[in-house]
Amino acid sequence: MQKLIGKMNNKHENKRIVSGVPGFNRLVEGGFRENSVNVVIADPGCGKSTFCWQFCAEEPEAPALYVSLEQNLDSVLRDCRDIGLNNFEDKYRRGRLQFQVAFSEDSDMTSGEIGLRFFMSELPKYLEIIRETAEHYHGGIRIAIDPLTPLLLEIPDLNQQRNAINRIFTSLRKIGTAVVTIEKGFGESLAKVPLFLADSILELEHIGLGGIYNRTLRVRKFRGSAHAETPQPIHFETGKGLSVYEI
Ligand SMILES: Nc1ncnc2c1ncn2[C@@H]1O[C@H](COP(=O)(O)OP(=O)(O)O)[C@@H](O)[C@H]1O
Ligand SMILES: [Mg+2]
Repeated sequence: MQKLIGKMNNKHENKRIVSGVPGFNRLVEGGFRENSVNVVIADPGCGKSTFCWQFCAEEPEAPALYVSLEQNLDSVLRDCRDIGLNNFEDKYRRGRLQFQVAFSEDSDMTSGEIGLRFFMSELPKYLEIIRETAEHYHGGIRIAIDPLTPLLLEIPDLNQQRNAINRIFTSLRKIGTAVVTIEKGFGESLAKVPLFLADSILELEHIGLGGIYNRTLRVRKFRGSAHAETPQPIHFETGKGLSVYEI
């Protein structure tokens, strides 16, 4: 009996949330862990937002929440249309994907201030409402925070930042599985706190020299899994977005 319970628990622990990026899941034992926070760090143009769109759009019925600290809805829908990721807009139109803007284009407040207010006061209220929905779905809600950088810049004191990020990540884990992006190069030391607190870290790179390794995805950390150790070649394709090459 004890053995059977052990097996069942193991089975539960090993449930994975597929990423929506073809070829990625096999690098990390099937996908993200349930109720985890996964950081994608990269320079601009490497595919952080695309990764988030694919993650949110995956599984048409699973509820998703996309929080943007950088782009408004029109701009994201346009980008998705341009690269042929139609399932993001479809899911949004069917009301399965909530788009939340946590910045302002015409306010004196910085994106970081607005983002901070969103995470500290609005998100907790919102979480109460969606917690029940989240419980019905394997892995809860799919959440993307894109990018977290303005918030990090808003809290330069690393101790305070650690407390804030810890609270945010803990809330996110309670309601689902999150992908959080960070721009590389913006305050290297600031990025260390969310990296340290994340369940996994993925790094996207674009060397710009052409060839199969022109763009890569590297799994830097993945709690609880054996994972690919080396940078994996990835590519963009219209209609499909980002995928990892089969090599
Ligand atoms: N079909 C495509 N072919 C080649 N590159 C593409 C294609 N679609 C998107 N891209 C690349 O994706 C980049 C945008 O990715 P994005 O996810 O917005 O990056 P980030 O959020 O990291 O700044 C573009 O700069 C472009 O280089
Ligand atoms: Mg982006």
